[in-house]
Amino acid sequence: MENLIKNWDGERLVLAYDQPANTTIIIAIHSTVLGPATGGTRMKTYANLNEAILDAQRLAAGMTYKWAAAGSHRGGGKAVLLIPPDLTIMQREALLIRYGTEVNKLNGLFYTGPDLGTSTADLDIIGQFAPKYIFGRSPSLGGAGDPAPFTALGIYTAMEVTAEHLYAEPLLQNWRIVIQGGGSVGSNLAKMLCNVGAEVLFSDIDENAIRYCSEELGLAFVPADEVYETRCDIFAPCAIGGIINQQTIPRFNCKAIVGGANNQLARPQDAGSLRDRGILYAPDFIANCGGAIAITEIEAAGWTAEKAAEVIKSAVRENLTQIYELSTQQHISTAQAAQLLAEMRLASESSS
Ligand code: PHE
Repeated sequence: MENLIKNWDGERLVLAYDQPANTTIIIAIHSTVLGPATGGTRMKTYANLNEAILDAQRLAAGMTYKWAAAGSHRGGGKAVLLIPPDLTIMQREALLIRYGTEVNKLNGLFYTGPDLGTSTADLDIIGQFAPKYIFGRSPSLGGAGDPAPFTALGIYTAMEVTAEHLYAEPLLQNWRIVIQGGGSVGSNLAKMLCNVGAEVLFSDIDENAIRYCSEELGLAFVPADEVYETRCDIFAPCAIGGIINQQTIPRFNCKAIVGGANNQLARPQDAGSLRDRGILYAPDFIANCGGAIAITEIEAAGWTAEKAAEVIKSAVRENLTQIYELSTQQHISTAQAAQLLAEMRLASESSS
């Protein structure tokens, strides 16, 4: 853990242990150069504390680049609640209250919203204890609600740009897309793709998600252990991170990877191995910025949902087009190109 703390390039790491829920609360503030640190709250069980801290740190850095690339005046941060597998509903609720109190004590150093494992209803509870620092509450409480449809819109746009780059046509019709994760983002994306006539397959391990995607959306199910080798045009990671790694890269049977999960690459250099295999990668923090932009701007700047949708479409289109061009011209991976773009924005904004 000492090394994790010493080797991190972020600004601050806040830890609090909540004994009644046997949960460690980790708030990672990566950068406040562009504005207050803002990022979702993830609730998840990890093998150990080190893994959870590392995840929080990497996710927080991802938010720094996401906001920078999107041109938002926000900084990068993320919270991870490392819950035990047997957390009860009562414990969970008390934990959300304690967590809200901790966020409130930071006095605006950290603003938060939903992420993997937390819902609009959870944000409503957290928000009672940190009312000024919460995004994504229910509309009845003044929030902008679920960010997933906006996240899906950004990913969909990234798929269009990718299709144009690969086939010189934006039509996703007749495309075969495998979505890993049929949760809120994955299922919203699936609906959009089905509407334009794409063939959509999905994979998940959660029974509710499997039932919803198969029965309500009519998608074909792919077992989790076959998901990487299933032939498709686009593989769309919409669940956990780290799924592009040395084990999976030889197995992919797709032309491109475009999805919503954060930190899809296990290590930055894995982007190079993907490129060597001829698989085009839409960098995660470029493709998945939609939810974060929409929810924060609708709530903090009074944007309409329509305006948010327009901005997301143009931001993803412009950024990704530029990244694909830069990657070709400079012979670098698309992940490196995205990093360059974000760092350029950070440097220019922080000096202006
Ligand atoms: N979970 C969102 C993301 O990773 C973060 C977020 C959503 C932040 C909504 C603020 C509001 O992009």
